[in-house]
Amino acid sequence: KKEKTLAMIKPDGLNYTDDFKRIVNDFGFSILRELTMQLDEDDVKLFYAEHSKRSFFPNLVKYMTSGPVFVMVLEKVNAVADWRALIGPTDARKAKITDPHSIRAMCGLDSQRNCVHGSDSLQSATREISFFFREIVSTGKGKNL
Ligand code: CMP
Repeated sequence: KKEKTLAMIKPDGLNYTDDFKRIVNDFGFSILRELTMQLDEDDVKLFYAEHSKRSFFPNLVKYMTSGPVFVMVLEKVNAVADWRALIGPTDARKAKITDPHSIRAMCGLDSQRNCVHGSDSLQSATREISFFFREIVSTGKGKNL
């Protein structure tokens, strides 16, 4: 079944935007929407609300506000799981060993600075897409998609 997922290139990954687009195309995703924006502290608190009590959260806010992010809505059959598989494990150090061809192995550094995000479920994808692209959800019918 066709799914949409949210892919976000974090501030440390912005230089790799062309590589990301090539990978996205090579693996058969359609890019439905894209935007570049600077997140502020409130944005990060809202987007990563589920992590707000974690000890790493203050550092996550600093990292995610350190420069612009590049966000894409990707679509294809099994998009959520396929994008997660392409980006590799959260800890980029681990990715370099277990998934050397993954995106995080390519441009990430450690468990925080992992250069890219992918929704972890269909439910998260819906929430995260609506965070950046309100109209996709508010029209309710995926108009213009
Ligand atoms: P992401 O997959 O976008 O989801 C939550 C983010 O929090 C994660 O990528 C990392 O950037 C960060 N993160 C997760 N776990 C840790 C950790 N143990 N230490 C520091 N940052 C983390």
